[in-house]
Amino acid sequence: MLTSKVTVVIFALIGNLARCSCWDRATNARYFDGAVFVRHKSALKTDIIRKMKIVSEIKCSQACLSENSCVSHTYCRTPSSPDKGTCYLHQNGIPEGEASVLDKKDKCIYQQYIGFTEATCTRQCNNKGKCFYDYSNKRYSCRCIPPHFGTYCEKTQAISFRFTNLGKQGNSGPTSTSGYANTTLNGRVTLDKGIQIWTVPFSAFYTLTLAGASGGNASQHGGHGAVLSGILKLNKGTRLRILIGQRGVKGTMAAGGGGGTFITEENYNLLAAAGGGGGGGGYIISNPGENGQANETGSVFGGINGLGGIVNGTHQNSAGAGGGFYGNGSCCLFITSMNACTSQKCQQGGLSFMNGGFGGTGNGNGGLGGGGAASNYFGGGGGGYSGGGVFATSLGSQAGGGGSYFIGDVRPIRGLNNGDGYVLLELKSSLK
Ligand SMILES: *[C@@H]1O[C@H](CO)[C@@H](O)[C@H](O)[C@H]1NC(C)=O
Ligand SMILES: *[C@@H]1O[C@H](CO)[C@@H](O)[C@H](O)[C@H]1NC(C)=O
Ligand SMILES: *[C@@H]1O[C@H](CO)[C@@H](O)[C@H](O)[C@H]1NC(C)=O
Ligand SMILES: *[C@@H]1O[C@H](CO)[C@@H](O)[C@H](O)[C@H]1NC(C)=O
Ligand SMILES: *[C@@H]1O[C@H](CO)[C@@H](O)[C@H](O)[C@H]1NC(C)=O
Repeated sequence: MLTSKVTVVIFALIGNLARCSCWDRATNARYFDGAVFVRHKSALKTDIIRKMKIVSEIKCSQACLSENSCVSHTYCRTPSSPDKGTCYLHQNGIPEGEASVLDKKDKCIYQQYIGFTEATCTRQCNNKGKCFYDYSNKRYSCRCIPPHFGTYCEKTQAISFRFTNLGKQGNSGPTSTSGYANTTLNGRVTLDKGIQIWTVPFSAFYTLTLAGASGGNASQHGGHGAVLSGILKLNKGTRLRILIGQRGVKGTMAAGGGGGTFITEENYNLLAAAGGGGGGGGYIISNPGENGQANETGSVFGGINGLGGIVNGTHQNSAGAGGGFYGNGSCCLFITSMNACTSQKCQQGGLSFMNGGFGGTGNGNGGLGGGGAASNYFGGGGGGYSGGGVFATSLGSQAGGGGSYFIGDVRPIRGLNNGDGYVLLELKSSLK
């Protein structure tokens, strides 16, 4: 610290100089609030850009202020004639807090306009950081463009954003973002009926990974969620709507389907969706739920093209199919003469993303993200881009997984997700 030994004076002349035509730092003049560091009986012997004979110290400081690269000067009186002296202009000056680098010289005075100088600041801000005058700290600083940081913006933050179900379970979404308290999402996510709204903080290529939720386990286990990954370019300020699929819930016998995980732009333009798994059946020879699908179509009487799944089979039942992006999942209206189902609306069907994405309700709710609810020993279908369907027989169910949607470089990957869904965005590289 430049402590009491350093006098900070208001150099009234500078204000006038700023309006004078010889002053060619017009754009920066406002940064010179007149504060200068003064050190008597001191000189800087190095870093000299110009040396001249000059009659007074005021002239020396005028010379420095007229010179773009000058940040400080040393003025030394000529011992034999006190009205004359030598003026030395410096372009870097001394680092803040390092007055000890000055030499002791009885006849000299050293003045530096700012601690961390404009010139060094401008030269040293990396990664498009901009030099600015920080009034509260009375010094120049680099204003960095995130994710760059550091005194000279020379460092790049390792950044990732992990969106979770925020601890919420069941067919409706989180109501509090407090679970992000200690994460990079702290204070950056708002909720709209369980859907997470987040604004992209900086333009970059991100590695996106998203996973649908698994179906609930019953005597047969639920299917796992599909996982997609790839590189996505996102622009700063873009608002995304992110729905994190939640696991299907086990009912008395069977379990609900898992929700799909969706990312859209604010205008509902879909970027990616990962299908959830079907719910486990509740009777001993039921089938496990099917996994979230690696393509757009839901499995087991699943939907196509963003529609919900349907329930079919040879046994009357009230299980719900999974919702899709556009269409709700439906239930079975059993036609005895055909020994098969036609579709009907029902509370067990998972809702489409466009209708809010709630899971169906029944005996074993579907997870948020369009999971279908279970009923009796029939599991519910998984939600996804197109919902998973259900096939029911007198022995139990086979519940399908939801479909997935992806564009560009994002692709299904081999792994499957066991649990609630998630979205992970990892900074890959800044845009040039
Ligand atoms: C955040 O960290 C604080 C301090 O370590 C801890 O008390 C708190 O429980 C954490 N909150 C969450 C949501 O993890
Ligand atoms: C559901 O069952 C599967 C397969 O047995 C298991 O891997 C998974 O951990 C179970 N999930 C829960 C939430 O118990
Ligand atoms: C989707 O994938 C499943 C298996 O994962 C396959 O049976 C089905 O034919 C595929 N559908 C389309 C439309 O490619
Ligand atoms: C339902 O299944 C029956 C056979 O079990 C089949 O004939 C019928 O086409 C199916 N309905 C639909 C809508 O796929
Ligand atoms: C889907 O379900 C919601 C909520 O019940 C309803 O408002 C909407 O009309 C349904 N959509 C279709 C196409 O049935």
